[in-house]
Amino acid sequence: MTDSLGIDPALLERATARFAERFGDAPPTVAVAPGRVNLIGEHTDYNDGFVLPMAIGRAAVVVFRPRNDRTLRLHAVAFDETKELALDALTAPGGDEWYSYVAGVAWAFASEGLVAPGLDAVVDGDVPLGAGLSSSAALEMATARALAAAGDLEWDPVRMALLGQKAENQYVGMNCGIMDQFASAVSRAGHALLLDCRSLETRPVPVPDDAEVVVMDTGARRSLAGSAYNDRRAACERVVARLQKGNPSVKALRDVTLELLEREQERLDPVDLKRARHVVPENTRPVQMADALQASNLEEAGELMNDSHFSLRDLYEVSCEELDLITEIAREQPSCFGARMTGAGFGGCAVALVKADATDSFCDTVLTAYKAKIDLPAALYPCRPMPGARLLV
Ligand code: GLA
Repeated sequence: MTDSLGIDPALLERATARFAERFGDAPPTVAVAPGRVNLIGEHTDYNDGFVLPMAIGRAAVVVFRPRNDRTLRLHAVAFDETKELALDALTAPGGDEWYSYVAGVAWAFASEGLVAPGLDAVVDGDVPLGAGLSSSAALEMATARALAAAGDLEWDPVRMALLGQKAENQYVGMNCGIMDQFASAVSRAGHALLLDCRSLETRPVPVPDDAEVVVMDTGARRSLAGSAYNDRRAACERVVARLQKGNPSVKALRDVTLELLEREQERLDPVDLKRARHVVPENTRPVQMADALQASNLEEAGELMNDSHFSLRDLYEVSCEELDLITEIAREQPSCFGARMTGAGFGGCAVALVKADATDSFCDTVLTAYKAKIDLPAALYPCRPMPGARLLV
């Protein structure tokens, strides 16, 4: 089986072979959903703001066949582990094991009266785990695609993204925003996705042919990401709660201007104020970068990325030594328009916008210079914008 839209054929072969080995030869169906790289708009989604993610060629794969006994029989290639779960016994919260992401989506379907049958399913993928490329949202959306197909339910990508977020918030217990599931479900080939996280309106933004988006995996993984994420979210909520007194139209940091922040600074905790000083300007960058890409103004797009990184490093304080170093080396290359960390932070990946005809030498030079200083399994790879979750035929 091949997929011209960027999924590695070797991955598809491995997952379907494992399915035959575990669950027999009757032909299965394959659902895939991409990971994403966020181009700009970091830590803005849970502030009702704007984001500009792009789905990438690395994906989660769910090879499946419906069962008629309301049982999920799941096998994960990455862990070489099989798990059996009764659909009618799923209750939230359900933990954060690999199978919780599948079970959580089944639970979210049921919580909204969507009836899907049990499945035999092999779960596989090549989105690196914990690297800021949304491996969990990809698995949720591939699961949703599989359950919707197995249950003969309409595929409504927006609704499915919301169900994936519900699964992650309530079943897995990770308080993420809506960006990752949206990027994985709704994206269009050739385009990044400008998303207004309040209205859920989207605008596909073409990525110019003369630009390449390069993902730069630092090789660093940080376990404190979950607690620090919740801590940053809480800081934003405290600022909103304070500002609401006297400014009743403020419902989220989305509604706050820098002028209002400065005017009210005495009433705010200094660290919380610093966090808000990142979010407020960062929230204007996705629309600006979308317009810059649309106008093929790659210099401006790159500058916005640099500004975003400095703000995440100095004000939101979610970068780390490895992310700072790899983005610094990237910016030193004449072929690079701009670079920034991507995703929640504290490790994982950064992203650079690079002249398309210089991508290979950019990747080689940056990797060599980074590895000379940091001994981690780093990797750089160019990504083209891929479509959202789909069934392969
Ligand atoms: C994680 C979350 C997203 C978003 C980013 C930060 O990827 O899942 O919802 O908040 O962090 O921009």
